[in-house]
Amino acid sequence: MIKKGIILAGGKGTRMSPLTKAVNKQLLPIYDKPLIFYPLSILMLAKIRDILIIVNKGQLNQYKKIIPDGKKLGIKITYLEQDKPRGLPDAFVIGEKFIGKENVAMILGDNFFYGQNLTSKLLDNAKIKKGARVILHKVQKPELYGVAKINKKNKIISIKEKPKKYLSDLAITGLYFFDNNVIKYSKKLKPSKRGELEITDLLNQYKTKKQLSADLIGRGGAWLDTGSIEDFYKTSMFVSAIENRQGFKIACLEEIALNNKWIESKHINQSIKFYGICDYSKYLKNLINK
Ligand code: G1P
Repeated sequence: MIKKGIILAGGKGTRMSPLTKAVNKQLLPIYDKPLIFYPLSILMLAKIRDILIIVNKGQLNQYKKIIPDGKKLGIKITYLEQDKPRGLPDAFVIGEKFIGKENVAMILGDNFFYGQNLTSKLLDNAKIKKGARVILHKVQKPELYGVAKINKKNKIISIKEKPKKYLSDLAITGLYFFDNNVIKYSKKLKPSKRGELEITDLLNQYKTKKQLSADLIGRGGAWLDTGSIEDFYKTSMFVSAIENRQGFKIACLEEIALNNKWIESKHINQSIKFYGICDYSKYLKNLINK
């Protein structure tokens, strides 16, 4: 099982300015919690407890205010700063020491996933020993994403970053599972025309060696965008609709930790103290007073 995970939470968030002038995008709300909670919850659902969060230089203190460390969640959080965005594979260069000799999962800080069989899918994918695995999802506007074309056996035939010409409607989501070669391969990459290391170039190195595989989130699952202000509101409405209808919270980190048996009631009480009197704390209280 993959034990280490990286959340890449850098980026300038220029498309969401002026909201992102003072606050990092991943700390803005998706309904009732900061965006960063959602990708973090995904790694925790994959039973990954050793997590590196890569943030923009100068924004570390913002993050530490909301996630000081992982103690109350029964996980270990390490922070590293990135002085400027150099593309997604840069995470594996920055994170080399953190990764060590192990395999690693990476999720982009602005990716939102939801679905019934998501947890079992995550656990399955975290079993990968060799090669790389991407998670695909059908979208209406593939030209906005990395895109993969697959054959009938779900094998990847080709991948392309934001293709202008139609290739397939399967977007490569921002959740990836890699073997340890990812460090070596990332270091070999050269910046593209837009001056960044490209995730598709990294994935292509695995593909050439026939070591790139794919899993699909079917129509029962959701992968939502948080790229623009409009997307932010739509995703917030999605979370609000589900939470208010069912009474469950999506991405309640303490609840996941408790279900994973990583923490006990006393840790939840610490979290309640930390958050103060609010709806989120009320929800936490209910978890331990069942
Ligand atoms: C990045 C990746 C792209 C991927 C997307 C998922 O794009 O380059 O391949 O499909 O994340 O969120 P960006 O959001 O940086 O444009």
